[in-house]
Order: sequence, then C-alpha cells, then structure tokens
Amino acid sequence: PNPSILNVFEDSSILVRSLADFVVKAQKEAVDKKGRFTIALSGGSLPKTLNGLIGHQGVKWDKWHVFYVDERVVPLDHPDSNHKSCNDVLFSKVSIPPSQIHTISIEFLDDLEELCDNYEEQLIKEFAQKDSARFPVFDLILLGMGPDGHTASLFPGHELLQEADRWVAYIEDSPKPPPKRITLTYPVINHASRVAFVATGEGKQDILKGVLDQPELGLPASKVKPSYPGQLYWFVDNAAAAKVDYP
Ligand code: 6PG
Repeated sequence: PNPSILNVFEDSSILVRSLADFVVKAQKEAVDKKGRFTIALSGGSLPKTLNGLIGHQGVKWDKWHVFYVDERVVPLDHPDSNHKSCNDVLFSKVSIPPSQIHTISIEFLDDLEELCDNYEEQLIKEFAQKDSARFPVFDLILLGMGPDGHTASLFPGHELLQEADRWVAYIEDSPKPPPKRITLTYPVINHASRVAFVATGEGKQDILKGVLDQPELGLPASKVKPSYPGQLYWFVDNAAAAKVDYP
C-alpha cells in the first residue's frame, strides 16, 4: 500500500473546512470520470465533521451515492441510528436524492443475516455484479476511530477482523453500545480508492499513537491499508496528534 498521509490541524474548525475541500476533490475526480460519486460514512462524531460541505460551492449532491460504513441495528429514527445522525446534521440540509442514500432495511431488524444480505444486495446493485467485481471500489470511505482502536464495527480481538469474503457482516456483541450492528468488512474498506480517518480531541491521543506508531499492536484501525492504488489519509487535530512521532 501507499504510505498514509497525515494531516494535522490547529483546531477542529480548520479541519472541518479542509475535510470538505478534500471530499469535494474526491467527488470531482469521480464525477469527471464516471458521472457519480460513491461514499461510505461512519457514525459517532464523524457526521458533524462534514458540516463544511453545507453550502460548499463544488458539491454536486445529485451525484452522491451514500452507504454506511457501519450501522446500528435500530429503527432509522432511533437516536442511536447512524443514518439519523447523518440525516440530522447533513442530509436534511442538502439535496441528495433519497433513493441514493442506502439505509439498512428496517423490515429485517430481527434477522441479522437477512439484514446483511439485503445491504450487500444494495451494494451489488450499485457496484455491478458481485461476480464481476470481487469487492466494491468506493470513491471515498470516511472512518472514525474509537479509544480502543476500533473502526467501523471492527473491534479488537473480534472474529470479524478475519472476515475475508463477505462485503457486509454483523456483530451481536459490540463492546460499544448498541450491541447489534452491521459493518462493511476490511476487504471492502481496503479496496476503496480513498479512505480517510477523522479523529479529534485529547481522548484520541493514546490510541492515535498506538495506531500510527505501534503497528505491532495490531489495532483494528492499523489494519486499514487500502490496496494500491488506494490511498489512506488521516485528518486529525493537534489535540489528538499530541503524542504522535512526526517523520
Ligand atoms: C459507530 C461508528 C464507529 C465510530 C467510532 C468513533 O457506529 O459507532 O461508525 O466506528 O466511528 O466509534 O466514534 P467517535 O467518532 O464518536 O469517537
């Protein structure tokens, strides 16, 4: 893989502006090439960091095709829903055609296998036949990172870290509540053209050092290594980066 690109910002408002420019650049390249932009979004604090996109000149919302990196298995209007977070802070304020925002299917909330299969079907429709493309290639995947080094719903020591075939998988024992979630797997994340982590605040200092400077720890976030020509980026603020060794 290409070495990752670390961007450190004075404070989170500068990060938010720069992240918006970065997303728009990725969108422009994708739209120029194929007329659409595929992006996968995480939950947690990530949706709020996309605030700089609202009113940004270069955004072509009608070209966006949105998926979730992971989703909590709750109704779409539940406070824990990642879709609800993204909707509240972003989608309700911009004009992405609703059919281009791919939510989990609420009819399968009681059947995690079906829920994953249905989400995988939605990906297959977007990214052509599963047989012809071994894994989907997102234009951009945006990730957060938890204080234990998890990303998406890929938690330390969990068997899902070994998943090599499925595009979408579920867990029922997430250490971060709520326990039931579905998640994109490493092969999907690592096939993207661009993957960017966003991590801010003092609470991420130790784990950011662990992920960037101590790969031997094998933390879930350090296993995000997009295969060539994919590129990994980090958007972090000074507070999160305080303990990282700079080259
Ligand atoms: C989720 C997220 C998860 C998140 C990290 C970081 O659904 O919980 O997708 O992977 O990105 O836990 O969360 P914070 O940004 O809130 O610290």
